[in-house]
Amino acid sequence: MFESVKVHYAPADYENQADGYWQGRTAVVFDILRATSTIVTALDSGYQGVHCFREVSDAQNFAASHERTALAGERDGVPQSGFQFGNSPREFVNKSPQYDFLALTTTNGTRAVEAVAGADCVVIASLLNLSTVAEFLRREREGSPLALVCSGSGEDFSLEDALVAAALMAELQAKHPLLSLLAAYEADWRRCFCSSKNGSHLLEIGLEADVDWCLQRDKYSVVPLLAADGTIRPAR
Ligand code: MLT
Repeated sequence: MFESVKVHYAPADYENQADGYWQGRTAVVFDILRATSTIVTALDSGYQGVHCFREVSDAQNFAASHERTALAGERDGVPQSGFQFGNSPREFVNKSPQYDFLALTTTNGTRAVEAVAGADCVVIASLLNLSTVAEFLRREREGSPLALVCSGSGEDFSLEDALVAAALMAELQAKHPLLSLLAAYEADWRRCFCSSKNGSHLLEIGLEADVDWCLQRDKYSVVPLLAADGTIRPAR
């Protein structure tokens, strides 16, 4: 049972916590469109690890000083100049022969991962690996206070993050007012994803296929965890 579940809805809600707030908690990070879906896809496809950076310059410095590490990410949804990859999960379905690790920087997702790095356990969740994350939490983190961290869209709330957080709570049989979202969108998750701020922007820039990719439920069975050295790797 998870008796204590707190949902963080947007950056102001996860970045402004008092010192020590994350200690003792299990943080589950959602950036469904697209950063956490990208991390899950890359790790299930054979990349060994992902390093998340809020700032582009930090990702660049890291990739320059680490072997077999590609720069990946976006701003405004589009890849940065000089980067090997953007933030489309479909780019990582087959591992590149040249790279084992990604230095990833995105508008919100990597920002959320950095913000919660002080938690006892940081889990990367998406619709792609939802049931496996639920199983992992039941098996390994039962009784731990749970923080569901919705990365958001810019400074705003992000509907698709909240919907998938609600779906995780349903799988964990946790009680929370956010569960009412599930009834509202039950018949049409695609409508939710496409009408959200992130989703409509992806449609505008021709990346509808990414939205459809991220809508696949339980395609993967990887549980990405943030290790003490700052690398996100699959749980063993
Ligand atoms: C983010 O981290 O804000 C997103 O993943 C944005 C995107 O990929 O378009």
